Amino acid sequence: MGKDVIIACDFSSAEKVFEFLDKFTDTKPFVKIGMELFYAEGPSIVKEIKKRGHKIFLDLKLHDIPNTVKKSMAVLSNLDVDLCNLHAAGTKRMMEAAIEGLTREDGTRPLLIAVTQLTSTDQESMEKDLLIKEDIANVVMHYAHNAKEAGLDGVVCSPLEAGKVHDVCGKDFITVTPGVRFADGDIGDQKRVMTPTEAKKIGSDYIVVGRPITAADDPVKAYMRCVEEFVD
Ligand code: C5P
Repeated sequence: MGKDVIIACDFSSAEKVFEFLDKFTDTKPFVKIGMELFYAEGPSIVKEIKKRGHKIFLDLKLHDIPNTVKKSMAVLSNLDVDLCNLHAAGTKRMMEAAIEGLTREDGTRPLLIAVTQLTSTDQESMEKDLLIKEDIANVVMHYAHNAKEAGLDGVVCSPLEAGKVHDVCGKDFITVTPGVRFADGDIGDQKRVMTPTEAKKIGSDYIVVGRPITAADDPVKAYMRCVEEFVD
């Protein structure tokens, strides 16, 4: 599994994201496009960033009836994204339908990973709001296992869960981990964080890094630091 650093391009417009990406003259980082940018600019933003030579993780977290997810995934597959995702809570049948929708006529498809429980959901809210009484760590592993059985390629998880996910689902099952901060950096609103070096040690396959790069005085230098700590 090739390790890589994915930059979370959490910008509100195409203009802002291109101003940011223009700083990268020698490298073409793997970028994550989230709901804000996608809803603001539509599919053209994916095509334009792709045309510039970047790999794209389209983070839209689909969750709907299987037929709707299947048809929507076919559209995302046509956009030629490299990685996309959905909520494992949509059930195994929904995840299987997603794979069908993503798979192109020639048999190729973007990688597909699942969100297990959002990191904003804690034990208390899961019990009270969702009426799930299990231990949240068990729920995360159960959902990861479901994703694996449905044929998905991996999960989004906290760096702290990546080792356990590999134990349960195998080392080839991809772990994509946000919540990464430099040892000397500001943690912002993230609660459970790890440095790129620690994420590498624990076996994350991809780290998703936003503000430590996008809000840095020198974003290219911050990106290269991530790559040095995590990949090299
Ligand atoms: O700026 P920061 O490095 O915190 O950005 C992390 C990115 O990863 C954001 O785009 C955020 O939405 C995403 N993310 C996260 N925690 C999750 C899932 C996604 O921080 N559990």
